[in-house]
Order: sequence, then structure tokens, then C-alpha cells
Amino acid sequence: MKKIILKAFGKINLTLDVQDRRPDGYHRLSTVFRGIHLFDLISLEKKEEGLTLEADRKDLPQGPGNLAYDAALLMMEKFPQISGVHIRIIKKIPVMAGLAGGSADAAAALTGLNLLYELGLSRETLEAFASELGSDVAFCLYPLAALGEGRGEILTPVDPGPMLWMVLAKPSFALSTAEIYLHYDQMNAALATHPNARNMILGLENQDLGEIYRAMGNALEYPVFKIYPYLAQWGRDFRRMGAEAVLMAGSGPTLAAFAREEEQARMLASHMKRAEGWTVLLTRSLTEEDLNRSMIYLGEASVEENPIEDIEGEE
Ligand code: C5P
Repeated sequence: MKKIILKAFGKINLTLDVQDRRPDGYHRLSTVFRGIHLFDLISLEKKEEGLTLEADRKDLPQGPGNLAYDAALLMMEKFPQISGVHIRIIKKIPVMAGLAGGSADAAAALTGLNLLYELGLSRETLEAFASELGSDVAFCLYPLAALGEGRGEILTPVDPGPMLWMVLAKPSFALSTAEIYLHYDQMNAALATHPNARNMILGLENQDLGEIYRAMGNALEYPVFKIYPYLAQWGRDFRRMGAEAVLMAGSGPTLAAFAREEEQARMLASHMKRAEGWTVLLTRSLTEEDLNRSMIYLGEASVEENPIEDIEGEE
């Protein structure tokens, strides 16, 4: 049976400003999303009937509750020509880390089924389905660079700017996005950072790394650092180790430490690896070329699947 294998890229938010809480409980955001070259591998294989999912991390739902499964179910409900599908996920993006790993997998399931079953759905249609699944899923359909408004799902493409080298450091615990927003509501929002997306967009357009670093900010650092003050301390330590800027990814707890060049990023990563209990990953911002190459395979399933080791990986 026919099969497709896709890379599902994660993201960071170069700026994330939280505005008011809407009557539906979601928060109005203004955020600049930027895709990163850190990816899960998703394979979708046609089958006669039914929907099954297998993820290499056994602590993840292997069925309903896994956002990729939910995405495939949504597509099967809307398009009866999808007889069945088996999904396999190889996770490389840390889970519940603020890097949109689950949203990336869901977006890959939508894109993959569209191609596998030759549905011919437009980007707009896929974006509408994506928004039903989660606030970050629409961006993950084409994770280059975009301004996100509404709850994050209203997207306007922006200039991707210069290459951003970064070292991601994730502490051993995970955070629930919903809980972080709840904490945010209980705090005095006036004390949080409220970064300006326009300044970031200008920095990207001007290819000005200094302006980009200055414009970075994340309002959700406020509740997360209040609960885990040592994260803020580590952020300062990463600066001392040579990071140009340190920013929390999405709703955390991953910290992204930025370097001007690849060599500097490698040095920074080797220093940061001394931080005990942290997962340290070297990565960079995504390019259009990366996105154009995100489909690894489309054909008969009998063909040997590329093992993840064959694919250019991150440290
Ligand atoms: O949309 P998503 O499922 O990713 O969001 C997870 C949770 O994060 C939501 O249930 C909501 O509590 C919170 N959230 C929010 N405002 C947003 C995005 C997420 O309050 N803009």
C-alpha cells in the first residue's frame, strides 16, 4: 500500500505577547513564529480500514489524544475516500517543551493525508482544519516565519530574516500550556514582558541580528519563571556562557540560547551541556529549502523506509 514519509518541524516564538483573555477562554496573542530545523518523522501508510498510530515514545498516546491521530480522524470524518491509515511517529522534538512537537505531527498528518489520498485541498482548507486541532497547528503546516494573531491561528507571512543559530536547552520536566496560561491569568499581566512584534518583523526585514535579539521577548516567561526561578537563573548563566540572547520557547520550559554563527553555537552547546539534567540540542532557523525537502518519500510501502539515522540529524 502507498506510503508517505514527512519531516514535521518544530517552532519557537521570537516574540510572544499575551493580550486579553477571550470569552472562549483562549488568549489573544501577537506572536512571531519561526520554524526550526528540529523535526519528528511521520509516516502515513494507506490501509483497507481503520486508523492506528505507533509512536516510538511509549509515554505518548498511541491513539486518541495524540494530536496526529486526532488530525487523521478529522480528515477521515470529512473525506470518506480515506479508507484507513497507519501512522508511525519517530520523535526528535522534545515533548511538552514549548516547541510545538504535537502540533507539528498533527500538521504533517493533515499534509500527508492530503498528498497520500490526492485530495487536492488548498492551504486555506488545511489551515481551517488545523485551527480546529490547536492554536499552533496552522503555522506548522508551513513553518517558515509568520505573525500569528487571534489565538495564534491567524497567520500573516513575514520575512524569515537571517539564519538564527540556537542551542535549545530543556530541563527534565514538561509543562502544560493550559496550566501556564492559567497561572498567567492569576498574575498581574502588567508586570510581564510585552514584546513588540513590529520591531521583530523590522529586524527580520533588515537582516539585523542585533535588532532581532533586542526585540525578542515572551510574556509567558513571567508565570514560568515565577514558578521555576532557577530557569531564569539558567537563562542568565547561558548568557554568561556566551549566548547573545536567551528566550523561552512558547509556553516553556525549553530555553533557546542564540549565537551569531554556527561555530559559536557549537561552543555554546558544549558549555551548556555541563548543565546537569538538561537536554541540549543545537539547531537553526528553517529555510525555504528545508521546507521544500520536507517530503522524504512517497511511494509503495514495500520500499525500505529511511531509518532516522540516515537523515541529517541535530546534535
Ligand atoms: O490551542 P492549544 O490546544 O494548543 O492550546 C492549549 C491550551 O493553551 C488551551 O486549552 C488554552 O488553555 C491555552 N491557550 C490559550 N490561549 C491561546 C493558546 C492556548 O489560553 N492563544
